[in-house]
Order: sequence, then structure tokens, then C-alpha cells
Amino acid sequence: MDYKKSVIYEIYPKSFCDTSGNGFGDLNGITSKLDYLQTLGVNMLWLCPFFVSPQVDNGYDVADYYAVDPRYGTMEDFDNLVREADRRGIGLMLDMVFNHTSDQHVWFRKALAGDPYYRDFYIFRKGGADHTPPTNWKSRFGGSAWEYLPERDEYYLHLYAVQQPDLNWENPAVRQELQKVIRFWMDKGVKGFRFDVINQVSKGAYRDDPDGDGTRLFTDGPRIHEFLKELNANSFGRDPAIVTVGEMAATRLESCYRYANPQEKELSMVFSFHHMRADFAGDQKWVLAPVDFPSFKQVVFTWQSRMAEHGAWNALFLNNHDQPRIVSRFGSEGVYWKQSAKMLGTLYQLLRGTPFLYQGEELGMTNGHFPTLSDYRDVESLNNYRILTRRGLSPDDALRILAKHSRDNARTPMQWDDTPKAGFTDGTPWIGVNPNCKTINARAELADEDSVFHYYQRLIALRKQYDVVSDGDFQPVTAEDDGVFAYARTLPGETLLVVCNFYGEDYTWQADRTLDGFRVLLGNYPAAAPTGQSIALRPYEALVLYRKGAQA
Ligand code: GLC
Repeated sequence: MDYKKSVIYEIYPKSFCDTSGNGFGDLNGITSKLDYLQTLGVNMLWLCPFFVSPQVDNGYDVADYYAVDPRYGTMEDFDNLVREADRRGIGLMLDMVFNHTSDQHVWFRKALAGDPYYRDFYIFRKGGADHTPPTNWKSRFGGSAWEYLPERDEYYLHLYAVQQPDLNWENPAVRQELQKVIRFWMDKGVKGFRFDVINQVSKGAYRDDPDGDGTRLFTDGPRIHEFLKELNANSFGRDPAIVTVGEMAATRLESCYRYANPQEKELSMVFSFHHMRADFAGDQKWVLAPVDFPSFKQVVFTWQSRMAEHGAWNALFLNNHDQPRIVSRFGSEGVYWKQSAKMLGTLYQLLRGTPFLYQGEELGMTNGHFPTLSDYRDVESLNNYRILTRRGLSPDDALRILAKHSRDNARTPMQWDDTPKAGFTDGTPWIGVNPNCKTINARAELADEDSVFHYYQRLIALRKQYDVVSDGDFQPVTAEDDGVFAYARTLPGETLLVVCNFYGEDYTWQADRTLDGFRVLLGNYPAAAPTGQSIALRPYEALVLYRKGAQA
């Protein structure tokens, strides 16, 4: 699949479409919506894990990499999904969670039972004196990254939940098992793989991090490039059509030059997250802070320019199942809801890289804004609520933070129609439906030419139609102007100019060039072709301009 022309759609199966009535979305639900996805124009679906799992982390705790969890359906349902997607020119990308397994995985059960072969599949260490864990590393979900096993008087490492023990990649038998998993799914007709937190698998030395929580020690670790090259050579690299993306938590730009450069034979592209921290207070997620637009823009521009200089390819996104909804975060839920949703889509989809959109983004779905603790399901959110209130924050203040930053904001059921359960299920949904499905839903948007859905459809078509979108160079435009997000994509004799007003107020943009000769390819307001050197932008206005001809 030509990943430069592709647009990939992420599905969180649990919240997409339930055909069995058990309150969880399922594989047949995805199959039933393939026509909808084809109408949207996407050509690959990234499916979050649907493998057998106790669901402590919604399937990112895998107990069997080779089997479909019964709550999502059967292997026949999966084979049928592959076939039906293929008929529509849509490929499937599966989510490979290889940094850790579930504690219910047979490898971990055997390791705990003392089997020496499987013991070396995980990371067991003795603690220090007075019951101190082997290192001061913190779990991504709060608390120590080491769990004590009293019966053995030792600890095991879990960078995520206690029920997600980390695999020991230093053991070649582990790496071979994981290669086998990929080959199994390739044989089933899978066309892509997303690798979960893959840049944390090479841990380096197990020592204290005097200035931090260990992140810098186990991120982009010493053997990571070797491990990826080996995985590539022994599995997906055997078929050049396979598309891969690595989730690179807290990564370094310099590491990504290698991860995502085709000559290195590691991955097709990478997700990085620095641009998603524009509303964090420093590095801290569980504190409320306003959006720092200049820093957001600077991070995106730096990654765009530098990755291109090093021949590396970006995965582009503003939403996923771990991020609150972008329209609630950087845009507006008020009068400019629709304009801001369209503006944010324009801003990132036309950058250099492969865009990923997340279910419901094409409808402008907003945060769940759950009012009570019992509405939450996410292990990270619940752990951090406990940590915040133990530190003395009032329950109300802690809930206010969750309402903005919890991952559950993005995990509410897909809004198919305006009925109370949004057309997601006939049963009891596993997590609450956003009541705004009354107005924000697929049925209504399909019927409205001016909807966010139809705008996304046009955006997606631009990448297929214009080589300057898929292949053009990236150039920042008026980078120092903090009112707008503007950039150009160029090929010899062609320029695409994207101008986005990031704010809910009018703003007059002074361009760095004449705009004569540009025509409007797309915009979220009715707009005439510009002339001269300035444009009066309306609140959250986005304009996509195009000119053929010599001058850039
Ligand atoms: C990734 C996944 C996230 C999961 C974590 C642990 O960040 O996207 O949902 O909780 O890895 O597997």
C-alpha cells in the first residue's frame, strides 16, 4: 500500500459498533460499517487490540496474541472482515502490544510457577534493603514500576499497569515468539502493523534515575535499532507492501530519523507526542494548563522540517484513543464547534506524512466530560485520581482534571445516530454515551453537505488527487506570526498553501508573498480567491490555496 497517499482510520473496537448486544463493540460491527468508511475515503483501518485479554487496559494487556477475544467475536468474523475490507480496497493494520503481556498470559503464568524457560521471558529482580524496589522507575500509570512478589521475595517490572508485566527483549526466544505473531497475522491478509510503545523495549541498565522517573533510561534504549531491524527482517519486511508505524513515547527526534527512514529498514513511520503536550504544565499531564499555541506550532514545524531533512516519514495525528478529543482541547465546543473541528483537520492532514484519524473525529465528536468517578473506566485515570486525592487535592478538583485529561474522553461510543445509545448498541454500553449524539452523529452529518464529515471526505480526497499533498516539500510560512498556523507544500511548479486561524476571533494575516494566482481548493467558510498580500480570516478559518506556475 502506498503509505504516502494513504489515510488511516483508527478504530477502538470496544466503542465502535456492537452487533451482539453485549455492550462492547465487535468485529462484525466494524464489517457492518465498511461502506461508511469507504464513503469517507480512508484506505486502511488500524484496529486497536481485540485479542484475548482480561481488559485491565482495554485489550492492551494481551493474554493470547493468536485468538480473538470472544466479546469481540470469532476468528471467522475476523477473516470475513479482512475479505470484506479488501473488496473495498481497505487494508487492516493490527496493534501489536509487544512491550508487555497480560499477567494472565501463559508465559507469565509459567514464569510465576517457576518454569526457568519462561522466567527469562520477563524481568525479575531482587529489591534493595528495607523493601526498596530494584530501581526508582515509575509506572506510566502511576506508582512504582516494580511489583513485589512476597512468595519469591523479588520484583517484576511493569512500565504500565501491575497486570502488564514487561517482556525481556534481551532474550532472543522472546523476540522470536513476537516475530511469529506478526507472520501469523500476515498470513491472514493483514496489511499493516502498529507497534505499541515499541521504543521502550530495550531497557538498558537497571539503575536509579537520580533526576527523573527512569523514562530517559528505557526510552530509545541501547539496542532498539538492532531489535527493530531484526523484527523487520524476520517478519513484515518480507512483504514490501506492509505499512508499519511505531508508537514512540517520549522519543527523541534524532532516534526517529532512524526509526522512520526507509534505508534503515526499521519502520515506515512513527507517532511522536511532543506536540500533544501543548496543554500540559511542563511534563505533567495531571495538571490543568492553557494551550500554548506557539509551542505547539514550533514543535510541529521542527518535526516536519527535520524529519524531511533526514529522509524520515511522519505519522500525523491530533486524536487517538489515548488523547482527549482535539476539538474540545484546541478548538471550541461552542458556536464555532464546526469551524474549529474542520480547521484542526485541515491543519494536520495536509502536512508531510501519513494522516491518522480516530473514529468520530470525522464527525467532530467532543470530550465525554463525565461528571462522577463511577463514569470512568480507564486504569490510568482511576490510578491518577487516587494519587491526586491522596496528595490532598479535593475530589471535585481531581474530577475537573479527569474531565479534561482522561483518556476516557475519547472512548465514549461512536455516535451513529441521535437515539439515546447513539446507535452503538442495543444493550448497556460499557462506557457512557455522550448525550450530544442528539446533534453530533453520523446519520445527520451524512445528510448535510456542510458537515464535518463531508469536509473530511474532501480533505482525504485532496491527498489522493494532488501529488503536492503526498510528496511535496514542507515549508513553514510566517512562522513567527502567533496568530496563524500557515505552511506551504511544494513541488516544482506547484504550491499548496494552508492557512489556519487557530483562534475564535477575526485576524488579518499578512502573507510573505503575493497571493495573486492562488485558487481556493477547500475552506471552512465560503471564500473567494485571495488577492494582494493579506487575508481577513474569520474565527477558526482554514483555507487551502493552490497555484500552478513557477513562483513558489
Ligand atoms: C499505548 C496504548 C495505550 C496503552 C499503553 C500500554 O500507549 O496506546 O492505550 O494503555 O500503550 O499498552
